[in-house]
Amino acid sequence: MTDPTQDKPPTAETTIPVQYEHPYPPADLEAEYPFHEMEYTRLDPDTMAERAESFYHQMELRRSPRMFSSDPVPAELIELAIATASTAPSGAHKQPWRFVATQSAEVKKAIRSAAEEEERVNYLESRMNEEWQEALAPLGTDHHKEFLEIAPWIVVLFEERYEVRPDGQRRKNYYVKESTGIAAGMFITALHNMGLTTLTHTPSPMNFLTRVLGRPENERPFVLFPIGYPLPGVKVPTLARKPLDQVMVMVDHPHTGVQDSD
Ligand SMILES: Cc1cc2nc3c(=O)[nH]c(=O)nc-3n(C[C@H](O)[C@H](O)[C@H](O)COP(=O)(O)O)c2cc1C
Repeated sequence: MTDPTQDKPPTAETTIPVQYEHPYPPADLEAEYPFHEMEYTRLDPDTMAERAESFYHQMELRRSPRMFSSDPVPAELIELAIATASTAPSGAHKQPWRFVATQSAEVKKAIRSAAEEEERVNYLESRMNEEWQEALAPLGTDHHKEFLEIAPWIVVLFEERYEVRPDGQRRKNYYVKESTGIAAGMFITALHNMGLTTLTHTPSPMNFLTRVLGRPENERPFVLFPIGYPLPGVKVPTLARKPLDQVMVMVDHPHTGVQDSD
């Protein structure tokens, strides 16, 4: 029989055989904890390329508007976006995040008022230094946050600094910022994929969100997301995204630590 992996790239049927010296999970682990076979369907290379290209073009269109329409958005869509975000990987599978959602006019008003208060100090009383203000200049952001009342939903993502068990015991969470950041990215992606839009907003310091939303001491505000449809005709800054060669480095050999000289 000829080796099917010789000429063609491997496929689901012709996966290159590989022998592991230390298979996972080891038998004694599997005897103690539940495991099951991972669900996975390998795609053919053409489908992979098509999906990769199409998803990239879809994500290229994601923008952060600063004027939202007040058109309502069904709660089910917000729930699905949060459920999607919650599939994110997390340190020791602690899922150290909490998405707090509101469409209450009263709550949104309180958030807007407190956010504008903080942003007034940031923008008008120089809590932001000159370098920061210079970086923000092309965006033209200021302390006015009307969209916080107009967008139909606000979701505030909190990082859970530590876990509090029902009996009051505390347990450490691991890689809280990394995990919550990944969940945030997946949340934004889920919203974009369903045709909604959001602004990643950080009116810092954001402790007021703990107070207004009545959250416990172990949660810290991470990002505030107004969510809805963009106001028709809304403008966004014309920004260029870095080309691949500025965000990607391919390494083919281990670095020797010896400086090249020419
Ligand atoms: C962590 C983080 C914090 C941000 N905070 C704010 C903010 O407080 N106010 C704001 O108007 N935009 C904020 N942005 C949005 C960025 O300005 C925006 O993502 C960036 O200019 C690129 O534009 P785009 O999202 O339309 O591609 C924030 C983005 C990130 C990732």
